Amino acid sequence: MSTPSSATQTPHLIRKKVIAGNWKMNKTAAEGVTLTKELLDEIGRETSVDVVICPPFTALASVGQALEGQAVKLGAQNMHPEKNGAFTGEISAEMLRTLYVTHVILGHSERRQYFGETDALVNKKVLAALANELRPSLCVGETLAEREGGKTLDVVRTQTEVALAGVKPEQLTSVIIAYEPVWAIGTGKVATTAQAQEVHAFIRSLLVSLYGAALAAKVRILYGGSMKPANAPELLAQPDIDGGLIGGASLESRSFVELVKAAKAAM
Ligand code: PGA
Repeated sequence: MSTPSSATQTPHLIRKKVIAGNWKMNKTAAEGVTLTKELLDEIGRETSVDVVICPPFTALASVGQALEGQAVKLGAQNMHPEKNGAFTGEISAEMLRTLYVTHVILGHSERRQYFGETDALVNKKVLAALANELRPSLCVGETLAEREGGKTLDVVRTQTEVALAGVKPEQLTSVIIAYEPVWAIGTGKVATTAQAQEVHAFIRSLLVSLYGAALAAKVRILYGGSMKPANAPELLAQPDIDGGLIGGASLESRSFVELVKAAKAAM
């Protein structure tokens, strides 16, 4: 029998899986609390998987209250890199912290596509989040045209390297990376496990070259893009897929709970 490579041998021991729900622009505060309570009934004490829910800003306070004393963590979907000032419509890391937010999605492809976020801006946000002890979930991923043009790895390399510029080695394991092929988000078109694993392994190899193997082995890299209970077990069984960033399937308790259970079973 051949000896398993270190990549397949150790990840489950050193990387706790993460299931993060990105509610996007869905749920009022009251609806968010209802969904949160349903989730807590089933997975409120789940500690073998890191579970994060990311409601819209307007639901953070009430969902945060519902989460008090529970293992499920609270994330925001975006933030501004500055501490405060004349930035109409924006929210700072410090403001999120006062609502007991611990995680923040940064550089989501919808932010890049509809709100013009560049890699340089995403980098500022990552650094600001870390400086405020928020854990960034940094999203990277190629469009369909980029994949078809053979540019997937180049795009992901640039997005990852620029976004992480200035992140210190001791901060790296606070960063979660989410590989989300843009063509798979909300489309029902999931990347094949081989396509996803290839990019995840590539991202980890980038981290090895930037930070060394020991630190790179500790970073969680999530897959996002039409992940649901039916396709999750196979994706989560891949050596470099450490969880999921879930859009559509996070809006309903049953499917989100099933995804958390799938991640637990894959550990
Ligand atoms: P989806 O969204 O699961 O609905 O494809 C994922 C995301 O955009 O984070």
